Amino acid sequence: MSGTALAKETGTQERQQLRAFVADDETRAVVEQVVGDLVIPAAAIHRGTIRDAIKLLGRQRSPRVLLVDISASELPLSDINELAEVCEPGVSVVAIGDRNDVGLFRELINHGISDYLVKPLTPSLLQRSLLAVVEGGGAHSRQTGRLGRTIAVMGCRGGVGATTVATSLAWAIATRRCRRVVLFDLDLQFGSVALGMDLDPAHGLRDALENPGRIDGLYLERTLVRHSETLWVLSAEETLDDPVRADRDAVGLLLHELQSKFHFVVVDLPRQLGPAVQQVLQSANNLLLVSDLSLAGMRDTMRLNQLMQATNASCIVTVIASRVGEYRTGEIPRAEFERGIGRPIDLVLPFDPKHVPPLVNAGRPVASGSGPTASALCRLADQLCGAKPSAGKGGLLARLLSRRS
Ligand SMILES: Nc1ncnc2c1ncn2[C@@H]1O[C@H](COP(=O)(O)OP(=O)(O)OP(=O)(O)O)[C@@H](O)[C@H]1O
Ligand SMILES: [Mg+2]
Repeated sequence: MSGTALAKETGTQERQQLRAFVADDETRAVVEQVVGDLVIPAAAIHRGTIRDAIKLLGRQRSPRVLLVDISASELPLSDINELAEVCEPGVSVVAIGDRNDVGLFRELINHGISDYLVKPLTPSLLQRSLLAVVEGGGAHSRQTGRLGRTIAVMGCRGGVGATTVATSLAWAIATRRCRRVVLFDLDLQFGSVALGMDLDPAHGLRDALENPGRIDGLYLERTLVRHSETLWVLSAEETLDDPVRADRDAVGLLLHELQSKFHFVVVDLPRQLGPAVQQVLQSANNLLLVSDLSLAGMRDTMRLNQLMQATNASCIVTVIASRVGEYRTGEIPRAEFERGIGRPIDLVLPFDPKHVPPLVNAGRPVASGSGPTASALCRLADQLCGAKPSAGKGGLLARLLSRRS
C-alpha cells in the first residue's frame, strides 16, 4: 500500500490521521521522516509520553493511528488500559518502548495494541509497522478493541421522565465529560428526543431498521443530526398509519456501527418489548429503569429487572425513582417499593415542576439547567463515566456502576 493510500485509509474530515507522543529527539526525527515519506497530511507529533496522550485524548478526538512512547512508564499495561478508556473506539495504537521483552510484547498485544516497537527506531521499521496497521492482517489489524458503551433507558410507565433522563444523560456525558455520545431514539413514531433537544428528526432511520443492508458508515453520516461538537442524535418522526417493522439484525448492526464511532450510545427505548427493544436489552451495558412510585410502576420495575437477569445478566441495572413527591399521599413509600421490586432504588429524582417542564418545553436538556433534578442527573452521568462519587453520596449507585462488564 502506498503512503497516499495510508493517508486516505486513515483520513476523515475531523480526525487526525496520526498522532505521536514521543519522548526523545531521535525517535521524533524518525517519526517525522516516516510521516513525510508516507505523505500523511494530518499528523501531529508531540514531545511526550503515554501519560500526555491520556491527558490530551481525554478532551480531544482520537486519531486513527496513535503512536505512544511507553519507555518511561512504570506500569505500561495499566497505562494502556487507561489510554483505551479515553480513546474513541477503533483507534490503532502502536507502542514504542525500550524493553526488548517478548513477555511485554505479548501482554501489550493482548491488551489491544497493534504493534510494539523497540528503540532505537528506524524509519523502515516504523514505516512497515504503520502500513501493516492500516492494511490489517494478524496482530496488526487490532484496534484498541473497545466499543462504545450502550446505556439503555426505559420508562416502566408512561410519562415518568425516561426521555428527560436519556437526553440529560447524553448531554451531560457529552458536554461535561467531553465524550462522544450518540442519543438514539428507538421509538420511531412517538419518540420525543428530537423535540426535547430542539432538533429536526432525521430521515432514513426507518428505512435502515427495516433493511439492514442500508447500514454503513456513510448511511450514519447522513442520518445523524448534530447537536454539538460531541453530541449527535438519531431519531425519526414516522407517520402513525403504517407500523414500523424494525428488524432485529438491523438494530444489532446499527448499534455496532454506533458503538464503533462513539464512546457512549444512549438509547431511549419504547416500552413495547418487540424485537428491536429486545436486541438493545440483550447487548446493553447499562439499563436505567425509570419509574414513579406507583403500584403499577413497582410491578413493572420488578418485572423488567427480572427480565434483565434472565436475558442479559451482565448488564448493570440502575433503578431511578422519578417525579418523586408529585402525588405525596398516593405514592408507595420508598422502603415498601424497594421491598416490592426486591432491590434498592439507586437514584431519586424529585418532582421538580419549577425547573424541569420549562427546560423540556424550551428544547433544553434538564441537566443543562439548575435545580435538584439537574444536579442529580449530572451526578449520574459522572458516575456512568466512572468518576468517583463524592464522600457519602451515591455509594450504592457507584458500587453498582463500578461492576463494569
Ligand atoms: N422530575 C420531574 N419533575 C417534574 N416534571 C418532570 C420530571 N421529569 C419529567 N417531567 C415532565 O414529565 C413529562 C414527561 O417526561 P418524559 O417525556 O421525559 O417522560 P417519558 O417517560 O419519556 O414519557 P413517554 O412514556 O411518553 O416516553 C415532561 O413534560 C417533563 O417535563
Ligand atoms: Mg419518552
